[in-house]
Amino acid sequence: MTEFEPHIIGFLCNWCSYAGADLAGVSRFQYPQNIRIIRVMCSGRVDSPLVLGLLAEGVDGILITGCHIGDCHYISGNLQTKRKFALMKRLMGKAGLEPGRLRLEWVSAAEGLRFAQLVKEFTDQVRVLGPSPLSGSEPDPDLLLNMRAARAAAEDSRLRALVGKEEKLVSEGNVYGEQITQEDFDDVMAGAIDAEFARQRIRLALLEEPMSVKELSERLGMEPRRVVEHVVAMRQRGWVDTQEIRESSPIYKALEVR
Ligand code: FES
Repeated sequence: MTEFEPHIIGFLCNWCSYAGADLAGVSRFQYPQNIRIIRVMCSGRVDSPLVLGLLAEGVDGILITGCHIGDCHYISGNLQTKRKFALMKRLMGKAGLEPGRLRLEWVSAAEGLRFAQLVKEFTDQVRVLGPSPLSGSEPDPDLLLNMRAARAAAEDSRLRALVGKEEKLVSEGNVYGEQITQEDFDDVMAGAIDAEFARQRIRLALLEEPMSVKELSERLGMEPRRVVEHVVAMRQRGWVDTQEIRESSPIYKALEVR
């Protein structure tokens, strides 16, 4: 039996990590050929929905690398990367995909050997995890719905704003000068992620077929009370509407709004 060879995508920032990879090549440091490298100007430009979308498509592993903290050529790009990475990991965990399929590391232009070792280590890590359950012709349908929901949640403007404004809110406060603690911010973030992920799961399930609250609850393993709360919020956003009343129960359908 041939050994599983993972498909890995690597996002490398132009100024440090890509130069590190270049140095690895020039120095003839060997590393596995499983990685396909995409050069980005800064690790902070790696978009969370893109990464989650690639994982939903069945990519076995994704490695993001950037300049060490303090060395980003755009000052704070890699701090944004750290926050996006935390969001992606959390959404992957909620969706049920192994968080070990995504990794973030800092590699400088002088660290060619470290880059080669890192690629080897990550390839081995993904090899141990095995092929993505979302690869192949028959991916797990529940996991697929969850990962699509995770991807869609990462696109939400509120979550994007929270990720982008975390440092300012915690260190300087909001427009009224009200500062919040890191702990309070983490609570707000966790609540926003939970709500957005749940709403996207409901939206995607309704796109498959219109359903009642009871059917949604059974399909998604979500308490009926929670389904109702989310459906009310989604109606206000114009995401869902009532299709018909069947045996005294409203049947909801998703509206194509995004
Ligand atoms: Fe390398 Fe920003 S330029 S992480």
